[in-house]
Amino acid sequence: MQPQCKLNVERIKEKITTLATIIDKERPLYTRRPFTEEYQQSREWLKSEMISAGLTVYVDAASNLIGERQGSRPELPPIMIGSHTDSVVGGGRFDGIIGVLGGIEIARQLMEQDVTLEHTLLIVDFTAEEASEFGISTIGSRGMVGNLTDEVLDRVNHTGLKLRKGIEQLDGRPEAINEEKKTAGDIRLYLELHIEQGPVLEQTNHELGIVTGIVGIRRFQVVCKGIANHAGTTPMNMRTDALTSASEVVLSIEDAANQSYTSQIVGTVGRLFVEPNASNVVPGHVTFDFELRSLQPDVLDEATRNIEQSIASISSKRNIEICMIPISVSDSIVIQDNIIEGIEESCNKVGSSIKLPSGAGHDANQIASIAPVGMIFVPSQNGISHSADEWTDYELVAKGVQALWNSLHYFDGCFDKI
Ligand code: HGY
Ligand code: MN
Ligand code: MN
Repeated sequence: MQPQCKLNVERIKEKITTLATIIDKERPLYTRRPFTEEYQQSREWLKSEMISAGLTVYVDAASNLIGERQGSRPELPPIMIGSHTDSVVGGGRFDGIIGVLGGIEIARQLMEQDVTLEHTLLIVDFTAEEASEFGISTIGSRGMVGNLTDEVLDRVNHTGLKLRKGIEQLDGRPEAINEEKKTAGDIRLYLELHIEQGPVLEQTNHELGIVTGIVGIRRFQVVCKGIANHAGTTPMNMRTDALTSASEVVLSIEDAANQSYTSQIVGTVGRLFVEPNASNVVPGHVTFDFELRSLQPDVLDEATRNIEQSIASISSKRNIEICMIPISVSDSIVIQDNIIEGIEESCNKVGSSIKLPSGAGHDANQIASIAPVGMIFVPSQNGISHSADEWTDYELVAKGVQALWNSLHYFDGCFDKI
């Protein structure tokens, strides 16, 4: 008879609200960016939480925080549960966080009930899952699977910190990343509990989501090289205005994403830098990032080509140099049918569930390169995320933890189903 996971709503609430206090007090709620003082503090708190949940705690070469619970069959590759606790600027209290705290809650209940799984269990807080100032996301999970190049490790962020140094500050060992990377067969299965970050579960009135696939994300930087000049004395027909050119490119990205393709795609420009950024100077230089997301790689290819063509025509029409530089790629993934079946059976013991794809990227995108992965969603109120207004009732988070517990036991007991 499978041990049951208690619906520990009060303890889940206490842990989420405690972590929500370890934030950058100078920035909008609930900011906890990676490689910062508050991120270090949150790591210390998570370490103590993992230890009190009976886990053996260590930091891997890529600086991921890992808690381990030995299984009865150490010869089997471990099952891994994880997510992230870094946030976007002005992010929420649940994105990523419930996957890590949910994993620790499961470890705590295994300890309280003195349950030993067959597989060793790893609970992981992946470093820097969100898009970082190093121009790349899912840093820790990329590192775990050996997908961090020296070029990326040597990138410097806006504070002058080199990524390699940031990883060391979190007790990682960047020089050992490639030697210690995990490869196919090292992890039996990866499971992640996450908020949906969209409206589907709430609008269809379901408590749990069984993720069927996760979008691929491609990020680019665009640089418009114009000529800064006096805003008063430079006639309109003598300008090479970097900002109006960039604005046309931004709208062409929106236009490309609004085209109809064989699968849905979204395109976003989230940040833009103007130089010299003065009201009485014609902008000379504009840099911005954009990203495209779709479940279909060929749709991303087609939209990328459309944008490249638009940039070429804007550049020649306005006689301005415009560069489009690839920054990062994370491949889309399709979840294996047998994993979906196991998670669906596990969710249906807890509450109402529905299958759906993920429009958000996750650490699972990286781990999928070496192991089967599965994800469980809980609803986001009004579909809001990456905002202080992000909200999921604690009762629903606790149900997500129960579904994760059931999935863990489902696959632990019958690894032939993985
Ligand atoms: O951006 C994302 O898709 C995720 O929330 N990191
Ligand atoms: Mn996020
Ligand atoms: Mn997330």
